[in-house]
Amino acid sequence: MAKIIMYPGEAKKDAVDWKEVQGQHITAVRRNILVLGSGGREHALAWKLAQSEGAHVFIAPGNAGTAQVGVNVNIKLSDFEAIKDFCLKQEINLVVVGPEQPLVDGIVDFFKGDADLKAVKIIGPDKRGAELEGSKAFAKDFMEKYGVPTAKCFKVNKDNIHEGFKFLESVKAPYVLKADGLAAGKGVLILNDLQEAKDELGKMLDGKFGAASATVVIEEFLKGIEVSMFILTDGEHYVLLPEAKDYKRIGDGDQGLNTGGMGAVSPVPFCTPEFLNRVEERIVKPTLKGLKAEGIDYKGFIFLGLMNDGGNPYVIEYNVRMGDPETEAVMTRIEGDFADLLMACADGRLDEVHYAKCDKTAVTVMMVSGGYPEAYKKGVKMSGLDNLKEVVAFHAGTAFDADMNVVTAGGRVIAVTAHGDSIEEARGIAYCEVEKIHFEGVNYRHDIGLDLMRMQ
Ligand code: AMP
Ligand code: GLY
Repeated sequence: MAKIIMYPGEAKKDAVDWKEVQGQHITAVRRNILVLGSGGREHALAWKLAQSEGAHVFIAPGNAGTAQVGVNVNIKLSDFEAIKDFCLKQEINLVVVGPEQPLVDGIVDFFKGDADLKAVKIIGPDKRGAELEGSKAFAKDFMEKYGVPTAKCFKVNKDNIHEGFKFLESVKAPYVLKADGLAAGKGVLILNDLQEAKDELGKMLDGKFGAASATVVIEEFLKGIEVSMFILTDGEHYVLLPEAKDYKRIGDGDQGLNTGGMGAVSPVPFCTPEFLNRVEERIVKPTLKGLKAEGIDYKGFIFLGLMNDGGNPYVIEYNVRMGDPETEAVMTRIEGDFADLLMACADGRLDEVHYAKCDKTAVTVMMVSGGYPEAYKKGVKMSGLDNLKEVVAFHAGTAFDADMNVVTAGGRVIAVTAHGDSIEEARGIAYCEVEKIHFEGVNYRHDIGLDLMRMQ
């Protein structure tokens, strides 16, 4: 007799593989998983999910790296109907949404509202939940209402610009101006000069970031060290995923322009049990309580961008997705079957699954195109990717050319992640392997983790 191991909640017999185990037919779990996105974060998510039992991973649209761990599917993230067709044809069981835009655009509402897609589980908040990232004004109101520690702020639009000027006069430099809506990660200005801050406020309200800056949030400047914390919640329960530190500036010593992130380290030495406990009590619990009170059914990741000021955490921002490049470090430190964890999340059973993180240190170094974050070339041939040992190279911006060579296709190109027993050891391995990867114009920071090493 065949023994049937079905995933709880799965009822589709045709979504299973048969395999022979010890003379018995065992029906192994087959889980068809679709990851949406095309960066290093999605490669890391797909890489981790591909290690889960019975996982068949598809990535839309993916990149040259995701093609190593699954099947790339050429679908635009804005084309919800095409995503639906694909899910139905491939009998997708689980969809994991990588970036924020489809969430803010309502992909979860689309899935929940479609009778044909009812059986497909999707990880991410609905449109209202996604407002935590999609609208800084909403996020600030939410934090105020539910007592989550954050910087004092004032919301400005064209009608109250003079009050905005007064608020700027009432706080000390540096002045923090934030476009309310999504602005491709560029909507935050930090200025030292009061007049410049007033001028920029005017320009933002005049459409410097399009509709995203029709409302601007002026914030008090928070002092301290930043850290990215991640939770996975089913709305009722949560797990605290490994934290990471991101390196945002292009140059060593945090010099130069802001980027999408030039590297990451996990764990972060100042995230002591005491600090993590404060984050849970002061931030995670009130946030989840607030979501429930607002009637927001949140099943997905919450990325807390935190400032640690003398051991006290403050929220700089909420994101409704995982971070990039943090995910490229964090995924390597999660133990066990990640698909199990996400399925349990979608089913509201996060309390039933075992979750553990490994105690190694992960260091991720992002290799970028010459010129990034300003103009850079694409389509540059790459070499050395086959020579790597001891590290995982997550592709952030790569593609295949007509001859199936791997070429650059973005500003951030490859995230190299190494493990070690200390930051020093992981750094040593990561940088050794980074030197084996070549492409014209390549650039990377040489100091990822150095600051934290001194704290270890
Ligand atoms: P955000 O898009 O809100 O994460 O802001 C981008 C970056 O600006 C953050 O990662 C911080 O480095 C910085 N930042 C934002 N808000 C503040 C604040 N209130 N005080 C200090 N730095 C901030
Ligand atoms: N690394 C920061 C972010 O993903 O927004």
